Parts: sequence; structure tokens; C-alpha cells
Amino acid sequence: MVTGAAPPGRPTAVPGRRPASGPRDAPRARAPPGGRGDFASLPRTEGEVGTFKDNKAAPIHRWFQYPAGFSYRAVEHALDLEGTSEGARVYDPFAGTGTTLVVCKGRGIASIGVEAHPLVARIARTKVSWDVDLEQARSERVRFLRDVRRGGGKDPPLREMPELVLKCYSAPNLRKLLRLRTRLGGVPEELRDLFEVALVGTLRSASAAATGWPYIAPKKRIAEKDAILTFESLLDRCLRDLEGTPVDRRQVDSQVLEGDARHPSVAARSVDLAFTSPPYLNNYDYADRLRLETYFLGMAGSWADISERFRKKLVVSATTQVLRQDGAPEDLVSRAVGPVAPTVAKALAEKVRALSRLRRERTGQKSYDLMVARYFVDMTQALEATRRALRPGSRFVLILGDSAPYGVPIPTEQYLGEIGVGLGFESFKVVPLRARGGKWRSNPQRHHVPLKESWLLLQN
Ligand SMILES: C[S@@+](CC[C@H](N)C(=O)[O-])C[C@H]1O[C@@H](n2cnc3c(N)ncnc32)[C@H](O)[C@@H]1O
Repeated sequence: MVTGAAPPGRPTAVPGRRPASGPRDAPRARAPPGGRGDFASLPRTEGEVGTFKDNKAAPIHRWFQYPAGFSYRAVEHALDLEGTSEGARVYDPFAGTGTTLVVCKGRGIASIGVEAHPLVARIARTKVSWDVDLEQARSERVRFLRDVRRGGGKDPPLREMPELVLKCYSAPNLRKLLRLRTRLGGVPEELRDLFEVALVGTLRSASAAATGWPYIAPKKRIAEKDAILTFESLLDRCLRDLEGTPVDRRQVDSQVLEGDARHPSVAARSVDLAFTSPPYLNNYDYADRLRLETYFLGMAGSWADISERFRKKLVVSATTQVLRQDGAPEDLVSRAVGPVAPTVAKALAEKVRALSRLRRERTGQKSYDLMVARYFVDMTQALEATRRALRPGSRFVLILGDSAPYGVPIPTEQYLGEIGVGLGFESFKVVPLRARGGKWRSNPQRHHVPLKESWLLLQN
């Protein structure tokens, strides 16, 4: 059944405005008055809602192509099904680049998000700052581009840039990028983050190396684009998107906290819905994904910097985040999960034992055992902190993928559901969303355990 999906290339809706046609007109699962529609009734063709695909063309969402992002349509569905509307407050504990918050703002719903990566949090904050003086921004744009094109002053020496950055650009284009970066310092504070978002977007678009997400391949050369022209077009797009935001939505309360979802940072019993897509247990190093951006901006210059400044702050979901001296995986699980959900702790102990055994047998010696153990320790804390923020009777809706490191299936959504109940949620439900992992199918190193993405619904 093909319903609901907008054909590629069709202009998408400005947040908060109903398009003349498109996804919103397709038959949808409707919430009964007061909410609680049926997540299982979402059309199958909406299977991309766990990916960033839809956001690439959607105003505001498209400002930064975050590979870890999910579709804004997933948020729309959840708000519709939950009957969440103006007057409510939504919380996203793993806010990423702010997809949940942007959708909420467009609908006049107050929202708060927590994101641990400083650059990602700043991008999210910029995406929900719609109350920009556009006249001032346009005049600044003219001055900015004039200064950058005119050059003058001393260009910063290229040799100080990390090698990865040097490999991505020709010297003249990198000089232009650095001129843009230097001039950013002269932008009035209230506009600086907006200009920075356009510059951050320019980095991958203007590169001479293949910078497709998630990996940068400096050896794979592509046609380089002029950095200043690319910046100009991205900044203009940001300004157009802001112009298209409904005036009555610009002041809607949207807060982004740079913080840690594992600790309470949102007032207790203050939100009506929590909605998120947390890190999946799939060995994806979120800290490393923004290496080009953080190196270029001077936020980091080495693997060690990335570990210290970003990696350590994130929920463990990759082997690059664990050390053998973190402790025995079984002990970690039994201490943190045991008191909350003994059955899950027992099942997890078996899984980590199997993973420890496989680690010793395999040449790569990947610490999947520790990664899995620490993921559930971290996520137990995050579920607890999120439950604390929820009002009684409200729901925590998650989009989650399962995983199978070394071919050992980990039913993440089932375990997290049971842990949630152990923490005091009344009940949980898992609704499958789509199959995933297909692109690795031809890889002979890869396991053949079918993977999926699901909704996990935790009722408070
Ligand atoms: C799957 S992504 C969410 C993406 C988001 N839905 C979006 O559309 O951009 C998970 C996010 O959780 C963040 N994260 C990881 N550990 C965190 C923590 N302890 N507290 C808050 N955020 C964290 C990561 O940096 C990443 O941006």
C-alpha cells in the first residue's frame, strides 16, 4: 500500500504550516480525543521515519544533515497519536540536532531537549531560535560576504590545520573557509550561531573529498565547490526558512540544554510526553562522526581531544568508548540492572558471557561485552531520569533499533521496556517499525541476524 509518502523533490512544509498536499493528507492513524492512537496502524511505507532521509529537504530540519537524525515525520506521527498539542510540554532527552523540538515549535508546543555533544546542542539551539531580526541578518550577510570576498588581512597558516581538514580541500578553498571562520568572530553575537550553522554545512558540501556520512574518504576525490558560494547559498536558505516560519510560533518556548540524559536536568513531573531516539547499540561512535566539523572549528584537534571533550560524555554505544579496566561486564550489569529488572539482568549476563567468549576467539577482539553492559547501565539511568520528568499518566515514546554484535541478538527494546517497568513505568509495548541493516547484507564478515527498528512505548 503506497500512502503518505511525498514524491522526492516535492517542496516540503515549513514547520507549523500545513502543505496543500503531501504526507499530512494521507490517511493516518488518528488519535482518539485526548490521544493514544495506535502506533501499529502507521502505514508501512512510512518505514523511513527512523532515518534522516525526509529531513534533507524539509525547511529548518535541513540546516544540518545529521546522520544520526530521524525523520521529522516520526515526531509528527507521535504527536498526532498521542494527541499532544498546544499547551503541552514535550521532552527529548537525546535531542540531537533538535528534530523533535523543531516539529513541536512549529505546532506551538513547548519543548525541552538535552544533548551531550556541545556542537550538536548548539546546532539544535540555533534551529529552534526563530525570533531572528531578519533585516539585521540580511544586512550582516551583505557585510560578511563583502569582507570575506575582499580578503585583506593575513590569512591564517594552513599548516596549523589537522591533517583530515587539509586532505578535504584544495589550498585556495581551505583559505576561503578559514576566512569565513575568522569573519564569524565579527558577527554580532545574536546572529553568530546562525552564520556558524551555514559554515558547518559548507564543510561537507564544499569538500574535494567524499564526505558522505558517516565516513570521510579523503582518497575518494569529488568535484570541489567554491566555499564562499556554498556558504552564501546555505545562509540564504537558512534566512528563507526563517522567513517562512509562522510569526505566531517564533516565541514558542523551546529550550536546548547541553547536558546528560542520564542525570535529571528537567524539573520533576513537568512534561506531558517524552519522545526520543537514543543511541542504538550498534557500535556507532557519535563523537567521531563530527570530527571534520569539530577539527575545523578548533573544538578538537586529535582523537584524545574528541575522547575527552565529547566521547566521555555520551551514552556508551560503541567499543571506542570502553576500556577493559571499566570492570567485569557481568558485574556492571548485575549492579545496575539487577535491582531493577532481575530477569533482564540474568539474560544480559548470559549475552555478555557469550560476547566475552567470542571476543577471545575472534581476531579483532572487540569489546562488545563491555559495550553492551555499559549501554544498559547508561540507558537504565536515562530511563530513570526521563521518568522523573514525566507527569503521571504520560508516555515515553522511543524509536529504537536492536542489534547483534558478533551475531549475538540483543533485543534492546524488549530489555529497555522491562527495565522501564522495573523503574516504575506502568507498562510497555513494542511496535515494529521496519527491518534494517540491509545494506551490510553482502558483507561476508557480517552476521545474518535480522535486525529491526521499533517503537517502544513506556506508559507512566
Ligand atoms: C540517535 S541520536 C538523536 C538524533 C535526533 N533525533 C535528531 O533528529 O537529530 C542520539 C543523540 O544522543 C546524543 N547523546 C548521547 N549520549 C547522550 C547523553 N548522555 N545525554 C544526552 N545526549 C546524548 C548523541 O550525541 C546523539 O546526538
